[in-house]
Amino acid sequence: MKVGDQEYQTIWFDNGHPEKVSIIDQRYLPFDFKIEDLTSLKDTYTAIKEMHVRGAPVIGACAAWGLYLAAIDPTNYNEMDEALTNAANFLKSARPTAVNLEHAVDNSLKEIVKGCSREEKIQIAREFAQDYCVAEIKSCQKIGQFGLSLIEEIAKQKAGEPVNILTHCNAGWLACIDYGTALAPVYSAFYKGIDVHVWVSETRPRNQGTRLTAWELKQAGVPYTLIVDNTAGHLMQNGMVDVCLVGSDRTTAHGDVANKIGTYLKALAANDNQVPFYVAMPSSSIDFSIKDGRKEIPIEERDQREIHHIEGQLEDWVVELRLSPDGAKAANYSFDITPSRLITKLITERGICDASEDGIKGLFPEKF
Ligand code: MRU
Repeated sequence: MKVGDQEYQTIWFDNGHPEKVSIIDQRYLPFDFKIEDLTSLKDTYTAIKEMHVRGAPVIGACAAWGLYLAAIDPTNYNEMDEALTNAANFLKSARPTAVNLEHAVDNSLKEIVKGCSREEKIQIAREFAQDYCVAEIKSCQKIGQFGLSLIEEIAKQKAGEPVNILTHCNAGWLACIDYGTALAPVYSAFYKGIDVHVWVSETRPRNQGTRLTAWELKQAGVPYTLIVDNTAGHLMQNGMVDVCLVGSDRTTAHGDVANKIGTYLKALAANDNQVPFYVAMPSSSIDFSIKDGRKEIPIEERDQREIHHIEGQLEDWVVELRLSPDGAKAANYSFDITPSRLITKLITERGICDASEDGIKGLFPEKF
């Protein structure tokens, strides 16, 4: 997607500089646009853990590149398979909820160990990461096309009135390598000339909605309005939302979805008001090995500091302010589970299906 006049992806590798991988450092948005070069396993771990990159698909991509950077590290020359297995476990410990990280690292390692020499293993790690990124981009493009049909249908019914789409967190191109998941259909509709408007939920405590989704929609010129997290129910009760579109960090084989904290409450409000609630995700976000989201998906708990403090711009400075009284306790659950019964459909790279075992099996029979 474009930033100003220039095309960007969130993470990229330049064959002329094989010692590094570059990312858009999302911590600085929307105030500053900064690129960070990652040159080691530790750099990629920190980038994931401290959310320089965030969003399930790009976390997976960053972890795949992390294994490549571990492979080229000369200190891993001896016992390379063991060193890379440790590197894989280290990367997986960075963030527990998004299954994409596990998928990327485990599948890459499975291929790397087949290499017969150090050079071959490095080549496999690099090609895996490159192919992984290409495949994820294609998946997001397809999600955009499938999701477009849903928005077109609503647009027809609204006969020229804007289609109001509510989203949560950031499931746009910043969360992926390009295009986005939940926002991919929005971009497809917008570029096709459909009148769309996005309600952007702020997404406390880190404000991915206010900071990232608003920024990327602005870059693309898509009309949007920011709301605080608690506003969604009111909007839905008053007919101001035509459709909810969110992403997923881990979807079970039975269609339960883990996504950013607050997604579940929006799904409840949508259900109560008969607003369709769609979850868009590439299959790299589906954990085919589990069924029950509430019992089987690990929920990340992050530092209390994210709740006690808020970051913002003051004149030319980005400052952090304390919100809570000294000594206050906070619980920072980062994700919640939306049960499949509250989900209208899932949108994947293979099409749209019910959020159920049968629905998912219909699109991905080889995984069952
Ligand atoms: O904690 P984050 O910002 O990594 O959480 C991201 C989300 O919850 C996204 O909605 C999810 O990864 C889907 S991304 C396309």
